[in-house]
Amino acid sequence: MIPPKPPVRPEKVSLLTYLRLFRQDILSAQPAKLYRAWMAEFRTPFFRSYMINQPSLVKTVLNARPRDFPKSDRIGAGLRPLLGNSVFLTNGATWERQRRIIDPAFEGGRLRDTFPAMWAAGQAATARMGDGVQEVEELTSFAAADVIFRTLFSIPIEDRIAQAVFSEFRDYQRTQPILNLAAFVKGPKWMPRLFSKRTKETAHSIRVLITELTEARMAQIKDGTAPDDLATKIMTTADPDTGETFTTEEMVDQVAIFFLAGHETSASALAWTLYLLAMFPDWQDKLAAEAKALDAGCDFKVMSKLRLSRDVFREALRLYPPVPMMVRESKCPENFRDRAIKPGAQVVISPWHLHRHTRLWDNPDGFDPTRWATENGKQCMRDAFIPFSSGPRVCTGAGFAMVEGPLLLSMLVRNFRFETTERTPVPVAHLTVRSKDGIWLKISKRTDDA
Ligand code: HEM
Repeated sequence: MIPPKPPVRPEKVSLLTYLRLFRQDILSAQPAKLYRAWMAEFRTPFFRSYMINQPSLVKTVLNARPRDFPKSDRIGAGLRPLLGNSVFLTNGATWERQRRIIDPAFEGGRLRDTFPAMWAAGQAATARMGDGVQEVEELTSFAAADVIFRTLFSIPIEDRIAQAVFSEFRDYQRTQPILNLAAFVKGPKWMPRLFSKRTKETAHSIRVLITELTEARMAQIKDGTAPDDLATKIMTTADPDTGETFTTEEMVDQVAIFFLAGHETSASALAWTLYLLAMFPDWQDKLAAEAKALDAGCDFKVMSKLRLSRDVFREALRLYPPVPMMVRESKCPENFRDRAIKPGAQVVISPWHLHRHTRLWDNPDGFDPTRWATENGKQCMRDAFIPFSSGPRVCTGAGFAMVEGPLLLSMLVRNFRFETTERTPVPVAHLTVRSKDGIWLKISKRTDDA
């Protein structure tokens, strides 16, 4: 049984057809050969992009010479009204300063401090879950948003502002649904890049809400009454080089990206993992048995016992990497696989294709959580597994997500059974990898003690 994979397009199509397919969905617009190519060139009259799948070249771009391949300005095109100058979009000295202030909040020790808030969010998600056929992306979105608000600001999703931010974000995505299209399509100048009035209004109202939260926290920090959570940690951390802390405005930019990057991605990963577990009930039972370790109560140490859950979550991140592609811009003339790449060219790194590369992985499209213990799995984990990217721009929340994912998953399967329905999800790339018409599962209370 092979988990759902998007259809591929025919090898040869006209430029117009390609652009049309691309607009619909980046994944199904690609030909099958990208799953076995080391490098591919997209040549159109308007832009030239190179997708690289060769592990050594991916390492050159992400790890060895990241300064020569900064994020392209265009990546942020759809997100800038919302994210302003957030760490996700900046480059150079501004980005370095932002990471110096943010990174300490996500270090190992802090994750331990954050654990009770994640646990509480998991318990709330379990309490909310009912029986019957349900769309699980909706449920995991709500749960992941709850995790972010509890860990960042010590408030649950039921809070007035948290609720409002959550629902405004949904509107934003409806008005601005395709994240990366503009990043791939370099020029021409007349390409419409204007945001609709509605997009700008929604972005503004989200930022007003986040500003309210951030200002209230600034006041609590001054009074000495602030809770010890991620927001307080970030807002009180001084840049070791300059001694400065974030201004309210800078913090609002960062909160917006934590919310967006932290909840959309985890929600996508959790929903796909639940689908995979429904497809493979033997694995679901194994996870449910392992999850009995949770009965001992909230203790960070339990994470070392949830190994199967971690392996399954990792396998889901391989098959359905929430961020399917990343785009960089080459700053210098390069030569990759005997092809001259001019400065300004777009370099596309595709976790989606790398994670299913037929020349790298054993059983690339199959679901096999035991692969991580095999030679091939270990090798590929080092060379061809980048769900959180790699190098200095690696996801700030990678460690956080690898606690959140397996924990919530274990809590859910400890209490519920998930079964497939006749609706098979089709993966498409929205802001993250989602299912075209949602992920529908039959959910029932787990009555046995297996
Ligand atoms: C399964 C969950 C997650 C996945 C798969 C994921 C994936 C990624 C990827 C691939 C990038 C790099 C994007 C690029 O370079 O174009 C990224 C960046 C980022 N992520 Fe995550 N992420 C996840 C969860 C989180 C969480 C929970 C947070 C915060 C609470 C977070 C915060 C960020 C931030 C701030 C960046 C920008 C880092 C920079 O550019 O320096 N992410 N994430």
